[in-house]
Order: sequence, then structure tokens, then C-alpha cells
Amino acid sequence: IANMKLLVVLSLVAAVCHASVVRQQRRFPDDFLFGTATASYQIEGAWNEDGKGENIWDYMVHNTPEVIRGLSNGDVAADSYHNYKRDVEMMRELGLDAYRFSLSWSRILPTGMANEVNPAGIAFYNNYINEMLKYNITPLITLYHWDLPQKLQELGGFANPLISDWFEDYARVVYENFGDRVKMFITFNEPREICFEGYGAATKAPILNATAMGAYLCAKNLVTAHAKAYYLYDKEFRPVQGGQCGITISVNWFGPATPTPEDEMAAELRRQGEWGIYAHPIFSAEGGFPKELSDKIAEKSAQQGYPWSRLPVFTEEEKAFVRGTSDFFGVNHYTAYLVSATERKGPYPVPSLLDDVDTGSFPDDDWLKSASAWLTLAPNSIHTALTHLNNLYNKPIFYITENGWSTDESRENSLIDDDRIQYYRASMESLLNCLDDGIDLRGYMAWSLMDNFEWMEGYIERFGLYEVDFSDPARTRTPRKAAFVYKHIIKHRAVDY
Ligand code: NOJ
Repeated sequence: IANMKLLVVLSLVAAVCHASVVRQQRRFPDDFLFGTATASYQIEGAWNEDGKGENIWDYMVHNTPEVIRGLSNGDVAADSYHNYKRDVEMMRELGLDAYRFSLSWSRILPTGMANEVNPAGIAFYNNYINEMLKYNITPLITLYHWDLPQKLQELGGFANPLISDWFEDYARVVYENFGDRVKMFITFNEPREICFEGYGAATKAPILNATAMGAYLCAKNLVTAHAKAYYLYDKEFRPVQGGQCGITISVNWFGPATPTPEDEMAAELRRQGEWGIYAHPIFSAEGGFPKELSDKIAEKSAQQGYPWSRLPVFTEEEKAFVRGTSDFFGVNHYTAYLVSATERKGPYPVPSLLDDVDTGSFPDDDWLKSASAWLTLAPNSIHTALTHLNNLYNKPIFYITENGWSTDESRENSLIDDDRIQYYRASMESLLNCLDDGIDLRGYMAWSLMDNFEWMEGYIERFGLYEVDFSDPARTRTPRKAAFVYKHIIKHRAVDY
């Protein structure tokens, strides 16, 4: 009997302890949207099937295959065009609330122009969306995730101001066909990667390397195209369809390497060059390009003997047109860097894309490294970045539209991804820090649902919660350990459960 009593007392103590732990646990709200993200060229394959037109990635990988590590391409990729039902099954296995995916512009409009719509393209996305809705998974559509129809590139692509009309026409087709069921549209994914890497450098299609002005022309035309697609939604479609339209910008954190005014300034310029150049015209109260960046580019242009700044000007009218055109701020956040005005610790993870504002930037030596040279686990960087954006841009609604970790394809047991789990758990804590501070953060999309074509890195860097066997014609998908962890986080709305 004495033993029994002891046992009862002990179990009572244990229950009380457990309850207090549970009570202290931080939770995500029930309506917080947990999802995963992908992009058309990275997963679909079927590059020339059922009337799809050629895009700039098809063109580049077929004409200059040597630019891709491992000489691979996205012709088949994860073959989601044929495997979409399995994709939705994986979403159900994970218990996702939402799924963010992009539309292939040239699958819908083969030449890019809206005079010729490809019915098979519309049917494919209808099937995909309907399959998600069947299981209560909220679809989030990105209209443009880097795969411009090749014909539009031949007309100048984002260097041609007419891109804003072409994009608006395409957006109309998208809203008309899918807006009855899809309530969240993201116009562009990561303008920096489109403009700086594709136009100002040669690290993404269309590898133009037009270093003097290419990226800046693209930046102005892109935000204008975004604004036109936003007004189209806001004025003609929202009144009937009632959804949201916004943009996704890559916002990695750039902090000073030391607390000196020189490093602080270098970090600020870097932030403006990396993402302020797109965010400021849309989200700031005054609109237009950020001031310090504009001054810096004007100064450099003069030194280089140009009669005017290489950064295009926004007229007051243009500023007013672009300002305030986003219902939410979609943030793709992966990592952070320390910026130094003087020290160039090498090698810089990505070759300098920003000669106008680039000084030295590097991760802290202690941060865990991924398979991607540019990606380390920087502590609490989601919270640092969102706190900054929240103050700068007057408390917008935020979604983290991408965040994820890469492992190398040669890893022996690819399904055991404890480093990815460590990264995701750290991200979750950082999200909870944002929620604790009252930042209006409504959702989180992990990159990515499955392994896919990682652009210039081909299939070497793997970001998937599901592993994809690219040597198998069926492209079999298998969950990694991190998939089970994410599933439990979603289910329990907590990191520890
Ligand atoms: C962001 C891009 O949007 C996505 O396409 C890419 O695969 C991930 N970063 C990982 O690099």
C-alpha cells in the first residue's frame, strides 16, 4: 500500500510538471498557414508537351548546357506534370494547410502573348488546384518564378518596358481561369534573382551579364509590371473573387560585421541593393528607389564617366503608381551575412553581383553550413529581418513564402537529415519570436516539398522534405526524417510536443 501511495503521488507530480511545461509552450495560432513551396520549372518537366512553349530556362539549358552543374536540365525534373496526384498525396501526408506553386507562363501562353491560350495548360493547373481543394489544401499561386517565355526574351524581356503590359495580359488570363478558387496570388518571386542574377550577371537565365544597367532597368520595369497586375486584380477581380495579391522578395539579413559606423553603412547599402531596391518602391511611404543606394549609384556612375546615373529615375507619378500595391509582403528568407566595409574574407559565397554596393560579406565561422555555399544557419535571422521590415515599412502583413536547407546529393543516407531538422526547428523558434512581438505574420512555406532542379546547381543541392529519385523514370518520392518532424510541428502547432 505504501508503494501504491508513492506511485500515485509520483504520477501526480509528473502530471503537474507536464501540464506546466505544456502551458509554457509557445504555439502557432490555428489559422497560421503552414505549407511548402515549389516552382514550375524546378518540378514540372514535360518541357515541350501538350502545346507548352519554350521558356528562357529551356532555351538556356539546351543551348548552353555547360552552365549547369552536372550538365542536367529541367526537361523532366520531378515530372510533376504527370505526378501531380502523388504531390497532393504528399501534401496530405504532411498535413499541409497550404501549398505555394508557380505557373509556367509558356505552358499557358506558348509565346507569352495572350492572343493564344493553351487549353492543355489551363486544364493541367485546374486539375492540380482541384486536387488540392478536394483535401482542403489552400493553393497559393506565384505567377512568375523565373521561366519567361523565350519569345518575350527575344523582345528584350524585363529590359523592355512593354513587359508590364505583357505581364498584365498574362495576369488577366490567370485571374480569369483560376481566381474563382485561388485566393492568394503572388506576382513575382524574388526580383533580385530575376534582375541581378539574370540581367546584371550571368548566374541565372537569361545570363545577360549587362552589368552597367541591366539589373536596374529590370528592377524598374518589374515593379511596374507588378503594380499593373496588382491594380488589375484590385479593381476588376477582387470585387468579385475577394482574394489577395502581393509580391515575394528575397530578404536575407545583412548585418554589420563590427559595430562601427563604416560597417553599419556598408550593411545598410547592401540591404538596399539586395532587396530595398524592390521593396522600397512598393512598401515605403515615399516610394521610389532607396535614397542612399540612389546616391551611391549616381556617385559611381559619375566616377565612371557616365553623364547620368545608371539607376533609372522614377517620376513622381510613377512613384505614386507603384506605391502601396501589395496586400502582403512575401518574404523568402534563408540566411544572414556579416558585412564589412574593409574586410574581404573569401571566398564570397556568391560571386559579387553588386559591384555598386558590394563590400565584404561572409557568414560567421560558427554557423552550421549547408550544401549550398551561400546558405548557413544564422541564429534567429527570420526575427531580425522581419523586425527590421516591420519598422521600415509600417507593419505590413507578412508571409514567409520560402525557407529551407540543402543537403548534397552524394550524402550517403539522404533520408536522415538531422541538419535540416536543426534548421527548421531554429526557424520555428524565430517565427514564434516574431509572433510574440506582435508582427503580423500569417504563414510559412518550407522550401521545398520535394527535391527539384536547383537552377545552376542542377540536382546536386537537394532542398526536399521528400527525396526524389532522379535516376528512376517514375521519380519515386520518399519522405526524409525532416518531413516527419515538420508534420508533427504542423499537427501540434508547436516545436516541442
Ligand atoms: C529561392 C528560389 O525562389 C528557389 O527557386 C530556389 O530553389 C531556392 N531559393 C533555393 O535556392
